[in-house]
Amino acid sequence: MGINIAIDGPSGAGKSTIARKAAAELGFIYVDTGAIYRSVTYYCLKNGVDMSDPASIESALPGIKPGLGFIEGVQHVFVNGEDVSDKIRTPEVSMLTSSAVASNPKVREFLLELQRRLARENNVIMDGRDIGTVILPNADLKIFLTASPEVRAQRRYNELKEKDPYITYEQVLDDVNKRDHTDAHHEVGALKMADDAVLCDTTELTLNQSVKKVTDLIRKTVMSNGGTRA
Ligand code: DC
Repeated sequence: MGINIAIDGPSGAGKSTIARKAAAELGFIYVDTGAIYRSVTYYCLKNGVDMSDPASIESALPGIKPGLGFIEGVQHVFVNGEDVSDKIRTPEVSMLTSSAVASNPKVREFLLELQRRLARENNVIMDGRDIGTVILPNADLKIFLTASPEVRAQRRYNELKEKDPYITYEQVLDDVNKRDHTDAHHEVGALKMADDAVLCDTTELTLNQSVKKVTDLIRKTVMSNGGTRA
């Protein structure tokens, strides 16, 4: 049994960047569950699955084999042996993952055991939306990472404007608000803070301060568990 740290929170709170850095510092494996959902979307698109029909997505599931691997210390996402780490980051995959894949209860059930197995076999920092509430209810530490919608939009805008000079802050803020609404209202897998999670608000913190806050919390937890159990 590994040490299990669950990090949940809305999109743009910096979860993946913070979790990745904290995992590298502590020697844990970082599991990006959003990437696993995205790899299912990618597979369906590539294989002509009708994304508007939940039953078609469900019948494709037995043939889908998502997995994580490490190449020179960097996490890569695979589906049926294909490295899809970059291909899952397109706007089309983002949109369909949110609207058709992550919202499908059968997909969530299908991915549950994979996520639990990774947590059983490794010391993990796992980030997502329902890790503390559904996937790892007995996690050693649950962190709910958030920041104000305005700050999350500003951070995302800073990233995006390098690729798209026409994008405006208002557009990005509007997207953030829309995504928050969808994520909070999924019938299954809705974003919700676990009762026993520690709230970590990064609105006023820099990236380095956020990483320090998270690693300090994890160190305290691991030490109070009497050190590494894996
Ligand atoms: O974190 P991300 O943007 O890569 O997540 C992609 C989508 O998957 C997003 O719509 C939220 C959803 N998701 C989810 O429902 N449950 C998770 N554990 C992780 C992501």
